[in-house]
Amino acid sequence: MNRINRLAAMVSLASLFPFVVHAAESKGTVEVVHYWTSGGEAKSVDVLKKIIQRDGFTWQDSAVAGGGGGAAMTVLKTRAVSGNPPSAAQIKAPDIQEWGRLDLLTSVDDVAKANHWDNLLPRTIADSMKYEGHYVAVPVNIHRINWLWLNPVVLKKAGVSKAPATLEELYAAGDKLKAAGFIAIAHGGQAWQDTTVFENLLLSVMGADGFKKAFIDVDEATLTGPKMTEVFAALHKLQGYLDPDGNGQDWNLETAKVINGKAGMQIMGDWAKSEWTAAGKQADVDYLCVPFPGSQGVYSYTIDSLAMFKLATKNDNPGNIAARDDLAKVALEPEFQYVFNQNKGSIPVIKGLDMSRFDSCAQASAKDFANAEKTGSLAPSMAFNMSTSQAVQGAVFDVVTHFMNDKDADPAKAGKQLLAAIRAAQ
Ligand code: GAL
Repeated sequence: MNRINRLAAMVSLASLFPFVVHAAESKGTVEVVHYWTSGGEAKSVDVLKKIIQRDGFTWQDSAVAGGGGGAAMTVLKTRAVSGNPPSAAQIKAPDIQEWGRLDLLTSVDDVAKANHWDNLLPRTIADSMKYEGHYVAVPVNIHRINWLWLNPVVLKKAGVSKAPATLEELYAAGDKLKAAGFIAIAHGGQAWQDTTVFENLLLSVMGADGFKKAFIDVDEATLTGPKMTEVFAALHKLQGYLDPDGNGQDWNLETAKVINGKAGMQIMGDWAKSEWTAAGKQADVDYLCVPFPGSQGVYSYTIDSLAMFKLATKNDNPGNIAARDDLAKVALEPEFQYVFNQNKGSIPVIKGLDMSRFDSCAQASAKDFANAEKTGSLAPSMAFNMSTSQAVQGAVFDVVTHFMNDKDADPAKAGKQLLAAIRAAQ
């Protein structure tokens, strides 16, 4: 970050926190279960906490570490079952319906109406936040998944002259990086990270149409056809470039390897940028972002949203309800949308904000989102539970992980396994 940007960030943060509120004066408490625990993500969530505190409420932080949110969802389920839900939790859209059916969510229609959410949000996003026509959740951002992050200094040292735009160029860059002694692609071997790579390869080989046929229509011919064989074969090939020490590693520790110049690239959604930003690095100077090779034009995404829970009897009082309503209101206000998304690496979810206040990666993301919307190339990510239930997502995780753990696994058979696993989980 240059000096002017640094100053601008300080000024905008300072304007958010003009008062210090003592706990004793709190008007009520809002407890939020989330999994934004990497350094950069914790900074982003702090923005929300500070605004809630400034409004006179207490923020009770219930962060559950674990990228992709698997651990957080387990905690949430246990708490809900034992009648002790938080005020709000970070959940993905298809799951909002499931929690709604269990009668655990509460409507925030009053907040939505007073703050004109129907006009602020794109229609499909607004609809996905509703259960039986009532707002029960608030979206905070749009994350693009199909990105490749690069360290230009490392690339230069390895003799890679430009960011790869095709899978062949990606492999060629990987060969050069390895030959020069670098980790080619930083990658944590966890099921959700493996499946992120798989999904990106699928977008590269099959495009948005193939993605939709596979994961929305569950089309047999697509899931078991020759293009799917190509995707699995590419996955085996790409494995040769992934960090050999990445087994079980958290995504942010892998991002750190690219930041520190040990690795050349990382395939990851744009929350990875939160780590670069937190480390004071600048887009286009210290790091590059390009669409995952071969998937240009497709925009795969996940939307983080906070679902609002009915409060447990012991917490159900006007102060805590007001605190939860304040969270819902703040989440879609421009002040929060700017600062949170600048820190988080995502783009705002509300329409009409000034993108010149964001870096070049976020600007490209907003532009690509708009284009993909026009061309029908938006892909709600399977790996991030946007197009599938958690059960189907888990079934895909199993097939992908199993395949990656078996060097001799036959790419031509993997599609059939995928189809069987998805059908069994539906
Ligand atoms: C996603 C979430 C992101 C980020 C990522 C890694 O599910 O949408 O905000 O936290 O997981 O944990």
